[in-house]
Amino acid sequence: MLAKEEIERGLNTRLIGRKTFVFETIDSTNACTKTLGDAGMEEGAVVLAEFQTTGRGRHGRSWLAQPGQNLLFSVLLRPAIPKDLSGLLTLYASVAVARAVESMTGCAIECKWPNDLLLNGKKFCGILLENVFQQGELSYSVIGVGINVNQTEFPSELELRATSLARECRSTYDRAHLLQLILHEMDSLYDDVRRGKLESVSKEWSARCTMFGQEVSVEQHHTIISGVAVKLHYDGGLVLDTPSGTTTIYAGDVTIVG
Ligand code: BTN
Repeated sequence: MLAKEEIERGLNTRLIGRKTFVFETIDSTNACTKTLGDAGMEEGAVVLAEFQTTGRGRHGRSWLAQPGQNLLFSVLLRPAIPKDLSGLLTLYASVAVARAVESMTGCAIECKWPNDLLLNGKKFCGILLENVFQQGELSYSVIGVGINVNQTEFPSELELRATSLARECRSTYDRAHLLQLILHEMDSLYDDVRRGKLESVSKEWSARCTMFGQEVSVEQHHTIISGVAVKLHYDGGLVLDTPSGTTTIYAGDVTIVG
């Protein structure tokens, strides 16, 4: 099991991960971090678990991960950013994870809108951002990160879409070290992010996204929108050119057509 001391040793971040909570089993690290947020915990706290009984994914889905093989953690942040920019925190976390994974594995990482990271076209990481507002202001954010690290077997229904670092890069990885690299990246990017300066994160995320200029279909609440993915909107939405005009979408599952 990952040990708190192993994670904290060698972590010289200014803010992120200065306080860590490590569990063998928990319901969901996002749920736990929300409890900390409600209780007034200072930002930068990290909650990590080896196994989640009710790990959460987007759209009420579950996040399934074998115990002791992966990275499942959440970070509590309290950035002073306007409500309309709060969705960009997903991109911030994506860029931090992509940089860290690339430096550890040497493999190129692709970002897929809105919250996935891909290796060789398959998803190895999902990010679940949960923002909590009070009187119209962002009170705190929970950024939940699930990374398939050393797991090599997946349920048959995920086999075609899911992967792990071990599977793609043919090596096993030191999870504590990878977590430290991610927290360092988050820490160094956070100086700008906390003040609402998210342009460079959006730019780096866009450079890692291969869907721009491509025909995509987006499934949203049982409806499908088709069009060409043009760019990221300033607030993190996806701008699409559709037969009926340009539109910006904020949720959905995107598939590149063809
Ligand atoms: C998705 O792709 O749907 C997002 C998945 C996010 C999963 C992570 S695992 C750690 C954290 N705790 C949760 O309950 N969910 C996130």
